[in-house]
Amino acid sequence: MTAPEGRVFSGIQPSGEIHVGNYLGAVKKWVELTATHDCIYCVVDDHAMTQDFDPALLPRLTFDAVLTTMACGLDPSRCTIFVQSHVPEHTELCWLFNTVTPLGSLFRMTQFKEKSRNALHKALAFEGESRSAAMHQLRNAGDGAVKMALEIEPLLAEIHPEGETDPAVAARLNDALGNLMQHLQVGLGVSDASTGLFDYPVLMAADILLYKAELVPVGEDQEQHLQLAREVAERFNKRFCEVFPMARRIPGEAPRILGLDGRRKMSKSLGNHIGVLDPSDVVEKKLAQAFTDPQRQRRRDPGRPEMCNVFTLHGHFTPAEKRDELAAGCRSAGIGCFDCKKVLAAGVNAELAPIREQAARLAQRPDEVLSALDRGRERCGTIAAATMDEVRGAMGIGRAALATRGGRGSQKS
Ligand code: TYM
Repeated sequence: MTAPEGRVFSGIQPSGEIHVGNYLGAVKKWVELTATHDCIYCVVDDHAMTQDFDPALLPRLTFDAVLTTMACGLDPSRCTIFVQSHVPEHTELCWLFNTVTPLGSLFRMTQFKEKSRNALHKALAFEGESRSAAMHQLRNAGDGAVKMALEIEPLLAEIHPEGETDPAVAARLNDALGNLMQHLQVGLGVSDASTGLFDYPVLMAADILLYKAELVPVGEDQEQHLQLAREVAERFNKRFCEVFPMARRIPGEAPRILGLDGRRKMSKSLGNHIGVLDPSDVVEKKLAQAFTDPQRQRRRDPGRPEMCNVFTLHGHFTPAEKRDELAAGCRSAGIGCFDCKKVLAAGVNAELAPIREQAARLAQRPDEVLSALDRGRERCGTIAAATMDEVRGAMGIGRAALATRGGRGSQKS
């Protein structure tokens, strides 16, 4: 198929069940785009390894993620589906991109900051023991850092802007600053994070650029990672030669779906999600506990639909006319949250029922899933090999570059 406006690429982590946030933020759009574009979709198992994972469970999670996206409507005869680790060029390109990616750009990545500051994360997101242990760790980190900073102060006074600084002072200052950084990283829990988590966005840039994709359907939370992919492409093109396009985000149906707590992004790790394969009674139960307008404490209090996450979800699952009726009922306290949630559960279940059915059918035919992945790996392997030939040639590595010993020049002056 020829792409009308460039190739589409996107990915999903096999780190748990696919939820309604993934579906509305990305996967629904993935399906839509297969009608018009050359689409490549990937289950990113290499990415899933950047946080706690169980090697015994990973293959099951990876298979289930593929099966679920197919059940959501991805038809392997109309798009390419594959598993990231089946095409090893992803990690090779990641390494090569590492050499053009500034550390500073990675330190700015919000997702790394959020996921790596374990102590802070626990203090903010959890309750009970893990919260108080994390608070204790943060306090210690803060107190220690203040002490260390005070020790640095007199050393700074010994540095002469004009003239030579005593090398012993410079060495002590260097040590003191290094210790302060290390102390803070330990205190915040950053030092427990893997190097892979830090490098996550570079691997993501490699995923997209290996296929020279220009369109990336993802939720809003991935925008910063896409910016980095553009930065990497630009740096590579400038330093070596024009190989990569600038990829841009294609928004899904919803940029950011909140979880059932009504406060934070719906996410597998926070346990505030509805799985797309959750049985209908589970959907009903989960929605019955969902947070609504915090000002509507009692049944007779009038509600504010615009402040209620349940009402936002209605926007994706309930016809407009019914929604207007619910909004009016909520404002006048004519209906209670319980009634409103029941209507939502019916809408969610109507949308998810065919997905569950298709998933059950595919589960009976695992070979259908596996053979789709084999075809995907073959096609992606061919595209990836061609890109890597270009990249290795441009960077002066690999067998072919050695044969000509840089004769067919690549590096820009
Ligand atoms: P992941 O697995 O976290 O999420 C998959 C997709 O779902 C979107 N999403 C959401 N959208 C709206 N509301 C939410 N609550 C919500 N939660 C998740 C995400 O934005 C994403 O589009 N880094 C990616 C995976 C990846 C990738 C890539 C994506 C790896 N390489 C290359 C595109 C291109 C991720 O963690 O997705």
